[in-house]
Amino acid sequence: MSKDTTRLWGGRFSQGPSPEMTALSLSTHFDWRLAPYDIAQTRAHTHVLARAGLLDADEVSHVEGALDQLHAAVTSGDFLPIVEDEDVHTAIERGLIEILGDLGGKLRAGRSRNDQVATDFRLYLRDHVCQIAQKIIELQEALLGQSTAHVMTFSPGFTHLQHAQPVSFGHELAKHIHAFDRDLERFADWDVRAARSPLGAGALAGSSLGLDPELVAQELGFTQALGNSIDAVSDRDWVAEFLFIGAMVGVHLSRIGEEVILMASREFAWAKLDDSWSTGSSIMPQKKNPDIAELARGKSGRLIGNLTGLMATLKGLPFGYNRDLQEDKEPVFDTVEQLLLVIPAVTGMIATLQFDSDRMMASAPEGFALATDIAEWLVREGVPFRNAHEIAGACVQMAEENDCELWDLSAEQLLSISPALTAGVSAVLNLEGSLSSRNAFGGTAPERVVEQLEDLAIRIAENKIAWGIDQ
Ligand code: ARG
Repeated sequence: MSKDTTRLWGGRFSQGPSPEMTALSLSTHFDWRLAPYDIAQTRAHTHVLARAGLLDADEVSHVEGALDQLHAAVTSGDFLPIVEDEDVHTAIERGLIEILGDLGGKLRAGRSRNDQVATDFRLYLRDHVCQIAQKIIELQEALLGQSTAHVMTFSPGFTHLQHAQPVSFGHELAKHIHAFDRDLERFADWDVRAARSPLGAGALAGSSLGLDPELVAQELGFTQALGNSIDAVSDRDWVAEFLFIGAMVGVHLSRIGEEVILMASREFAWAKLDDSWSTGSSIMPQKKNPDIAELARGKSGRLIGNLTGLMATLKGLPFGYNRDLQEDKEPVFDTVEQLLLVIPAVTGMIATLQFDSDRMMASAPEGFALATDIAEWLVREGVPFRNAHEIAGACVQMAEENDCELWDLSAEQLLSISPALTAGVSAVLNLEGSLSSRNAFGGTAPERVVEQLEDLAIRIAENKIAWGIDQ
């Protein structure tokens, strides 16, 4: 186990690490993703070193040239980490020393991998949250398209997965747009805390070299530097928060998935999956399977696992940086990658679903779904709701006994249940009457749904600007 020269900490060791130590310690197989951010950070740090009089103009220009060169080599894949590079930070320093010689060794001054890794990781995640948000917006647009097309498709609305009250299917679909709107709100709020810079914290205590953390924060697009150097290197709240939001997005995707799976079943037969967004069976030639919906549902479990795994890692960590914190990266990379895979697939599936409007319309009033309309009609006629509920329940019982629907009950039958059930009730015993009566803000009356979709379209347009999608 001879000494090697690449490691950043060889000074007090007479021997190099054992192969087992090296294997356990190695993180380049996953943290290499941070390389472009480590280069950006090094560039900003160079400027801070220059400002503090620790690099002259000539040195700065050499370093900047080397950073450009290294960035190109990292992008092209010509520069890759080697086993002796414990992590991405070591690899980037080695790359700079290969180009610059001793000058490359000056750039670590005032930095530690503890503040470096926290900085790179924040930069990476802010970038990728933006990509995820953009994909969510595209999914919202697909949902908005389908919702708009189906405002006047009336469908059964469910509670307990039983027919409850008829609703506009556009209203039903639009609920998912609201859920994703909240996720986007969460990401925007998350970014407020993620946009603070740890660089300058050093290992834990800050720097003695006259470096300005605010300057470097600004150059890297952060809003401010963190106010406590120990917190700066040990805080991973923003990682946990990201994983929570990622898991929440996953849960929302899973709930859409579950609905699509049901709607595409032969029993429901409300929706037909497009060939390009479904799969067949290797043995049953007739099958068309909702794999996207199932994978969306399945992956949510994994995203929740990423969150709980990190929470367990963080729990009980003492003062300052601890190597346990290296375990924060893989769950985040996984959540990012899974979301970037699954959201566009769900978008395509939603955009191409074909809904059987006639079938939904026929089914919408079934299962005595208009019973609440009878009760609320009675209330409008002055009957106390408690009695109205009883009377409407008696209508259901009579219809059930006669094996008919509510609107099949004759005027005599209705009057025999209650003298309050006069002919006027027939106005709400049909879909149009039922839906248009639910016209309070947020309700399923088509006019309200149209307004709701207009509001959502405005929100989506605002989010497109906020998250950098060209209109
Ligand atoms: N690879 C490490 C991580 O991901 C970088 C920081 C290592 N710091 C240290 N003192 N060993 O957290």
